[in-house]
Amino acid sequence: KRVVILISGGGSNMVRLVESMTGDHPARAVLVVSNDATAAGLDRAALLGVPTAAIDHRPHGRDRAAFEAELLKPILAAEPDILCLAGFMRVLTPAFVERFAGRMLNIHPSLLPKYPGLHTHARAIAAGDGEAGCTVHEVTPVLDDGPILGQARVPVLPDDTPETLAARVLTREHLLYPAVLRRFAEGNRSPLMI
Ligand code: GRF
Repeated sequence: KRVVILISGGGSNMVRLVESMTGDHPARAVLVVSNDATAAGLDRAALLGVPTAAIDHRPHGRDRAAFEAELLKPILAAEPDILCLAGFMRVLTPAFVERFAGRMLNIHPSLLPKYPGLHTHARAIAAGDGEAGCTVHEVTPVLDDGPILGQARVPVLPDDTPETLAARVLTREHLLYPAVLRRFAEGNRSPLMI
C-alpha cells in the first residue's frame, strides 16, 4: 500500500508513521506534502528518504478549491492507496475528501466526539475532565467526524496546563497512529483502544 502523509508543521506524527512502515509492514510512505514550505517536517521527511512537496495555501486566499487543485497534483502523481493527515491544519472541502473516501485518516488530539476543532486540551481542562486523549478516524466531509479507528486515553492531572496535557497526549499519538495505520493497511477497521 502506498501512503501519502499531509503535514503543516513539525511532523512528529509523520516521522513515527514513516518509521513504522518497514519490514513486513504492508505499507510504505511514498510522499510527504505540506501546505507550508517552511514546515520542519519537510526536512525530517527528506532525512528519512521520503519525497516531499510543498503547496502554499496562502496565494489562493479563501479559494479552497484552487488550493486543493494544486495540492492534488503531487498527491495523484504519487498514486496513493491511503492518505494520512498528520498535524495538517487546513480544512479540506467535501469534494477533496470524497475523492479519497474510505482511505483517508486523520489524528485529532481529543477523545472524539468530544472537542472537535481547535484548542482541545484547554477545553478538556476547562470542563474539568478527568481524562483526555487522541483519536484516529476516517476523514469524512464533516470536520473531525467519521468512523473512529482508534483512541488513546491519558489522565488529566490537577496542575495540567494545555501544554503539559498536549505533551502527554502527543506521546500517545505517536503510538496510536502507527498501530492504527498498520491495521488499516491490513484491511482491519475495528477500533483500537489503547
Ligand atoms: C499536534 O498538536 C497534534 O496533537 C496534532 O497536530 C499537532 C502537530 O502534530 N495531531 P505533528 O507534530 O505535526 O505531528
